[in-house]
Amino acid sequence: MTNAIEVVDIHKTYQAKNGEVVHALNGISFQVPQGKIYGLLGPNGAGKSTLVKILSTITPLSSGRASVMGFDVTQQPLAVREKLAVVLQQTATENLLTVRDNLLIYAYLHGVKPTEARQRLDDVVEEFELGERLRDTVQELSLGTKRRIQVAKIFMLEAPLIILDEATTGMDPLMKRRVMDRLRAEARNGRTILLTTQVLSEAEELCESIMILDHGREMASGSLRELRTLSTHMFRVSLVFADANGDLTGRLQALNPVELQVDGNAAEMVFHGEESSLLGKLAEISRETPILQFEVRGPTLEEVFIALMKETR
Ligand SMILES: Nc1ncnc2c1ncn2[C@@H]1O[C@H](COP(=O)(O)OP(=O)(O)OP(=O)(O)O)[C@@H](O)[C@H]1O
Ligand SMILES: [Mg+2]
Repeated sequence: MTNAIEVVDIHKTYQAKNGEVVHALNGISFQVPQGKIYGLLGPNGAGKSTLVKILSTITPLSSGRASVMGFDVTQQPLAVREKLAVVLQQTATENLLTVRDNLLIYAYLHGVKPTEARQRLDDVVEEFELGERLRDTVQELSLGTKRRIQVAKIFMLEAPLIILDEATTGMDPLMKRRVMDRLRAEARNGRTILLTTQVLSEAEELCESIMILDHGREMASGSLRELRTLSTHMFRVSLVFADANGDLTGRLQALNPVELQVDGNAAEMVFHGEESSLLGKLAEISRETPILQFEVRGPTLEEVFIALMKETR
């Protein structure tokens, strides 16, 4: 089966207004099999939106190649666009049109037949609770509601690939949940989803595979499980001491944790290192301050992310 997305050694340079050359992507490669949910993560300026724009044929790549459902983004941009439903980070909705017309016209422009479009309109209006806003023009709506329409639009189409660039930003938690449930259902039905997000828990919940980008380079990629273990020897430790005598924070800080929170006689730490050496050091501390409870867990994606960022800055 063809991969839904194939990206091979993409580079992208922009010419900034002041004449400087910006290297937004520096050799990115990845594939997304059909029916999978893939997440692009990274700090501001990492190159996520640039990648999304290249895949959506909005921006040309500088070198390398990329294809969507087997069609090359440079050679066959029209065929690529037919396969796509995209929510861009800076998406334009037609401000002067009503919510209803925004959704219907979007579907018509993508070749959906009128009867089919009206059926889908009813469905998305119900799902995204847009019934009361249907006749309002988009310019009258709140930011979160505009976002909801942008996301609702992609479900007006049956394109096999959905791309969302920080699409849930500004949505209330209930709506976010609904979007996430819907995306999962779409993937189960065989649609492929590429999303960028700053909300790590969202990526953790939805994505089968993830790439963490920074400065246009891959910092890490793989399944959630691989990413967690890839930040080798990283773990979260919860401790409860018999009592917090002396300078407990200072002594724990001396172990050089990635993160440390001390609250009374309880401490939460994230460590990067050999588990055995950490246990040895904790055993030393416990001679002065007995440890009552002790738990070691794998890191969350957020902790992996923070550790990777700290290591490269
Ligand atoms: N049109 C442009 N002209 C010049 N430089 C640009 C242009 N678009 C993006 N850049 C630069 O390319 C780099 C990557 O930007 P991009 O928008 O892809 O990052 P991002 O990961 O989406 O960030 P964010 O999380 O803030 O959305 C940044 O340094 C940005 O300033
Ligand atoms: Mg962006």
